[in-house]
Amino acid sequence: MPGSSDDYVRVMPVDEIAEAEIYEFEVDGEPRILTRVGDEIFACDGICTHEYAELAEGEIEDHVVYCPLHGSGFDLRTGAVTSLPAVTPLPIYDVKIEGGQVFVSRRPRGESGA
Ligand code: FES
Repeated sequence: MPGSSDDYVRVMPVDEIAEAEIYEFEVDGEPRILTRVGDEIFACDGICTHEYAELAEGEIEDHVVYCPLHGSGFDLRTGAVTSLPAVTPLPIYDVKIEGGQVFVSRRPRGESGA
């Protein structure tokens, strides 16, 4: 499929991702974060949707990432806001594992990419 390999970017080896640690990376100059909860790996935007805060400085608890600035929570599975003051969902990226490496989709889930 032409271009399909461009749809995902390689981030890091899966066995280097510790539970509830936050890893920063960039795609096309935009900050993203990666974390592990149990056996699942999640990737989302690195900047809070409320004001400007880097979620890499935040905390993971269960399936929620908490913003370091005003404490909004976002569900890593859906991007949904779990606690105010943010009201806009966080863009979430699909994750796949191939050959022991984590790959993250270039575009947020739900965006066609056409
Ligand atoms: S900047 Fe994240 S909750 Fe305000």
